[in-house]
Amino acid sequence: MKSKKNLVLIGMMASGKSTFGRILSIKLNYEFYDVDKIIEKETNMKISEIFDKKGESYFRTLEEEITLKFLNTKNSVISLGGGGFLNNAIRKKTILTSKTFWLNNSLSTLISRINKNNKRPIAKALNNKELKNLIIERSKVYDKADFKIDCENQSKSNITRKILSLYESK
Ligand code: S3P
Repeated sequence: MKSKKNLVLIGMMASGKSTFGRILSIKLNYEFYDVDKIIEKETNMKISEIFDKKGESYFRTLEEEITLKFLNTKNSVISLGGGGFLNNAIRKKTILTSKTFWLNNSLSTLISRINKNNKRPIAKALNNKELKNLIIERSKVYDKADFKIDCENQSKSNITRKILSLYESK
């Protein structure tokens, strides 16, 4: 099979990066790399535990190292952590090596999904207004993705179809 650029999913926490990453990798018969899961496996700690015990900057360093490493693979689907694309080195390399898809959802959908579990350390520290501001600020960076996929009120199969058709055609 001819190698194509990797397919990378970016977006806020709870935007569906892991779910769609898995589905797309099966459809494309690609390897699937979920950066958060890899970090948890390599450290043998949950993300929240890493933040608690080692701090955010330790996590961000690890996130950069692991993400850059997996961006070197070929024929892969990679789901970045929600903060990954904010890192300059990760963003530059992602844009260079991959086709990037931003899974975009409304503020209210994201806030309600994020509030449903309190495992995410970044969100745990914020009230809804601060979370909303974070989403707005980050969206300006997520907008540098090759494709913005509006997921609001779309079925999983429609979203998958849309991403695959953009990935295959452009
Ligand atoms: C983060 C998002 C999380 C995880 C970490 C930090 C963020 O990933 O990497 O808690 O800064 O948005 P998900 O987007 O998979 O929840």
